[in-house]
Amino acid sequence: MDVDRIYGSSLFTKEKFLFYKRLPSTQDRAKELIKNGVRRPGYVIVADEQYRGRGRFRRVWSSRKGESLTFSFITEKIPLLSMRTALSVAETLEEECGLRAEIEWPNDIVVNGRKICGILIETERNLAIIGVGMNVNETVLPLESATSVRIETGIPASREAILSLFLSIFESNLTRENIMDCVREYLSFMDRYVEIETENGVVRGEFINLGEDGEIIIRTESGSIASFLPGEAKRMHKLTAPLLAGTDR
Ligand code: BTN
Repeated sequence: MDVDRIYGSSLFTKEKFLFYKRLPSTQDRAKELIKNGVRRPGYVIVADEQYRGRGRFRRVWSSRKGESLTFSFITEKIPLLSMRTALSVAETLEEECGLRAEIEWPNDIVVNGRKICGILIETERNLAIIGVGMNVNETVLPLESATSVRIETGIPASREAILSLFLSIFESNLTRENIMDCVREYLSFMDRYVEIETENGVVRGEFINLGEDGEIIIRTESGSIASFLPGEAKRMHKLTAPLLAGTDR
């Protein structure tokens, strides 16, 4: 990866880019920076190879040397960060790679039904650390449910160009007002039945809407209305058929 080909923006200035050839986890490196005294947003930690990447809910995030785009950045803690990030990834994939990406609420980005990017958001002191793992130039992936930019477009892509565009789009989405309207346009499951895995078990229901706080609102199997914030859902699956018993629709 050629760090000189990554463009900064007014928040993510080039002197706040930290590039590593090999790192256990960009997310852990970003945490260390804050623990060691960094107090300003705008730092971007990029690794050409990450060998102990972490996903949400203690999942492992594996990435391939020189092929994946793995980075973490430090930003202010503001509302709707996961929605702003997911939207920025989808817009970047569309603009830079011509891909119609969908947001699989809350934190996955999929293309043609397969995961292309995962997002991990954590906080440290008064700052947020956002980790993004995107499959870019992989031609083979270990999971059937995963895909890459190259697999979808058939041509290699520039990780530097994707990262540069993402940072500038994210920066403008930090202050965008109609975030949820934009997110709804990219949702992968309007008018579908969904299954949400939470810490307390699985809830199935009919998707009704995404609320203004980024929460998913569903009509559950028993007919009641329930909502879950992005941080409360471990995973969300679409159900192809209304497997619901007991709904009166
Ligand atoms: C998920 O899908 O569960 C989220 C995956 C997030 C992976 C990224 S890769 C860059 C950053 N560093 C990490 O250790 N994890 C995130």
